[in-house]
Amino acid sequence: MIHSIQTRASRLLGVRYPIVQGGLARVAKAELCAAVSAAGGLGQISTVGLADAEALRAEIRRARALTDKPFGVNFPLGRMDFTAMMEVVLEEEVAVIALTAGNPAPWIKRIDGRAKVLVLIAGPELAKKAEGAGADLVATVGYEGGGHLGRGDETTMVMVPRVVRAVSIPVLASGGIADGAGLLAALALGAEGVEMGTRFVASAEAHAHANYKQALVAAEPMGTTVIKRSLGMPGRALRSAHTEAILAAEAAGEDIVPMIAGPLNARGVDDGELDQSYLWAGQCVGLIGEVEPAGAIVERMAREAGEGLARMNRAFQPTG
Ligand SMILES: Cc1cc2nc3c(=O)[nH]c(=O)nc-3n(C[C@H](O)[C@H](O)[C@H](O)COP(=O)(O)O)c2cc1C
Repeated sequence: MIHSIQTRASRLLGVRYPIVQGGLARVAKAELCAAVSAAGGLGQISTVGLADAEALRAEIRRARALTDKPFGVNFPLGRMDFTAMMEVVLEEEVAVIALTAGNPAPWIKRIDGRAKVLVLIAGPELAKKAEGAGADLVATVGYEGGGHLGRGDETTMVMVPRVVRAVSIPVLASGGIADGAGLLAALALGAEGVEMGTRFVASAEAHAHANYKQALVAAEPMGTTVIKRSLGMPGRALRSAHTEAILAAEAAGEDIVPMIAGPLNARGVDDGELDQSYLWAGQCVGLIGEVEPAGAIVERMAREAGEGLARMNRAFQPTG
């Protein structure tokens, strides 16, 4: 059993293991967030799908009732005006605020050191901007990952060392990580922790229909595809009749905005309708063998990473 994995990221976030559960739109509610944090990682609550700021406050308080460990709240900027929700997060003294899909600078100013700020970025230039704006740490968004991606199709293997070289704040690797070997590889690339999305959707506590979770277990990497390129906002989702229709519409130069409306995502997440929905998922579906409790995923990853490190130590023979 690995007691803890100490990096600048784990110390900054106040966690035992630098394993962060991504802000999973509609899926990450108090139960998942608290299960990850209680196991020694950092859970997050997603603001997407919550009715208003008071609904977020209730979700934060529910998570607090389930764990005394730190957790975060995730804001995909540019979706809507998050001013009221941000005030609630600051009033409730949430430990970590994650910002993505927009300019984090004005929000970091508003947060003003009252929470640690994690910014999701795709590539070294955006990482430098986030660091310059005052981010405490960044998470890379690799092309293998589930949900929204960078426009450059850059993989985790290449992006992580490039970002590590570009900034001096800690870097979390995200995209394609689902087990202890992935965590160890991320640390080997210079990251100081990981952020994972798809793996935690296939967990007992995720607010997702059983059909969605089982589809992740059953899928191979080629069972995912990238939609929304025509909007300049590529995102990786499970292949379905609906994502095929989106790709066909994009190829024909048609407007796909009505096809990616939130309720179509909710139809899959909440009701388990897989064909006529789009559901975010990364290539790491190929590494997911079963739906597990989120805490067991965190603990197994730490154990597997420790075992992998011991194996590598045995392989490396010093001279002399
Ligand atoms: C279902 C789903 C929803 C997501 N929603 C968000 C979100 O609202 N905000 C965010 O920062 N990232 C979101 N992401 C991206 C994750 O936080 C994470 O960066 C990504 O899943 C990492 O790749 P992986 O799926 O290979 O672990 C989402 C990912 C998935 C799978």
